[in-house]
Amino acid sequence: MTKLTFTTPTAVSKIIIGDGLLEQFVSLVDISNYTSIFVITDTNVGSIYLPKLLEHLPDTTQSTTIPSGEEHKNINTLNHIWNTMLEAGLDRKSLIINLGGGVVTDIGAFAASTFMRGLDFVNIPTTLLSQVDASVGGKTGIDFGGVKNSIGSFTLARYVLVDINTLNTLPQREKLSGMGEIIKHGFLSKTIKEDSDYLQQVIHHIKTPKPETLESIILNSIKLKIQVCEQDPQEKLGIRKVLNLGHTLGHAIESFSIENDEVVNLFHGECVAIGISLESQLAVSIGILSSEELNRIQQILLDAQLPISCPLNSPKDIERIMQLLKSDKKNTGGIVKFVLPTSTQTAQWDCEVDEQTIEKLLSQQLK
Ligand SMILES: NC(=O)c1ccc[n+]([C@@H]2O[C@H](COP(=O)([O-])OP(=O)(O)OC[C@H]3O[C@@H](n4cnc5c(N)ncnc54)[C@H](O)[C@@H]3O)[C@@H](O)[C@H]2O)c1
Ligand SMILES: [Zn+2]
Repeated sequence: MTKLTFTTPTAVSKIIIGDGLLEQFVSLVDISNYTSIFVITDTNVGSIYLPKLLEHLPDTTQSTTIPSGEEHKNINTLNHIWNTMLEAGLDRKSLIINLGGGVVTDIGAFAASTFMRGLDFVNIPTTLLSQVDASVGGKTGIDFGGVKNSIGSFTLARYVLVDINTLNTLPQREKLSGMGEIIKHGFLSKTIKEDSDYLQQVIHHIKTPKPETLESIILNSIKLKIQVCEQDPQEKLGIRKVLNLGHTLGHAIESFSIENDEVVNLFHGECVAIGISLESQLAVSIGILSSEELNRIQQILLDAQLPISCPLNSPKDIERIMQLLKSDKKNTGGIVKFVLPTSTQTAQWDCEVDEQTIEKLLSQQLK
């Protein structure tokens, strides 16, 4: 078991990584000061892990189960969660546990951070993606008005319990989706930490996957994320923006895939991989990345069995993606801002690319 702390000027989050943590909840988290405990989970995770967790919590613990999937990370589900929290009689001294993937940790943490002006919460991430990224770092929220994560807060979990055992039931495509964010941290490794060899570790794992190396990658991936977030907890100074690599185009493509029934439903990490690949092409267009480095970036994504392009059907699709890009919350003054790679291990934030260059790139995605 490894314990890390993530400290900001106003809060501390304890992150514990190991196996069998669900069963050890009460010995890891001091629950003596809370009046009640309320668990938020989704249908898939709830059916596998909720009974096991409840076995190790006080008998008075209550819970709510939301439908699984990104399309439910919205105001209706949030409304339902708030209602069930009220009905359960929670007060300001209640503790919330978010048990699930990034959808549950994002929406559950937002519900907790707003209910009665904020309740303490613990995240128990159960997907690879949420273990290395979504559950750590304090960003909470929902999708609103068709725009990803457009409503939310920065609120730290008191604890994040990363129980590696929960990955045993995770479908393979979800594991690969998690690799999207793991590789993203690799592509940023030297911007975050000058002497990092994390990308090499990830490439080695992609070629020869082993459970021990995965556990070490999860730990190092979380460490890299904490290192950036501690320097710039609320993304005000700039450095935290690097974590949005692949996410400007990635989020637009993800929203497009949610609203468009004709397009195959893409997972978050898959959209990030497509975003990284396309944004790397933009980086080549504006002369900050060499074609050789672009090829290396795309090859690493392909080796990890992740997609590097997004098949679009018509010019209308391009128009919609351009519209979504313009409503991205990272923009300032109506200008779309990108994080673009400058090598396989470094990136630059606040890059501007003219609309014609983006449209030209998207038109190359037409089937
Ligand atoms: N807050 C942040 O900093 C941050 C960072 C990255 C991603 N995110 C968000 O995270 C979300 C994506 O998270 P995700 O990929 O975990 O998706 P998810 O929460 O939808 O989980 C993926 C699927 O796996 C199922 N599942 C979860 N754990 C399981 C397990 N152990 N066994 C079997 N099935 C399991 C879920 O029910 C779901 O169907 C997106 O909304 C994204 O915006 C947030
Ligand atoms: Zn992401």
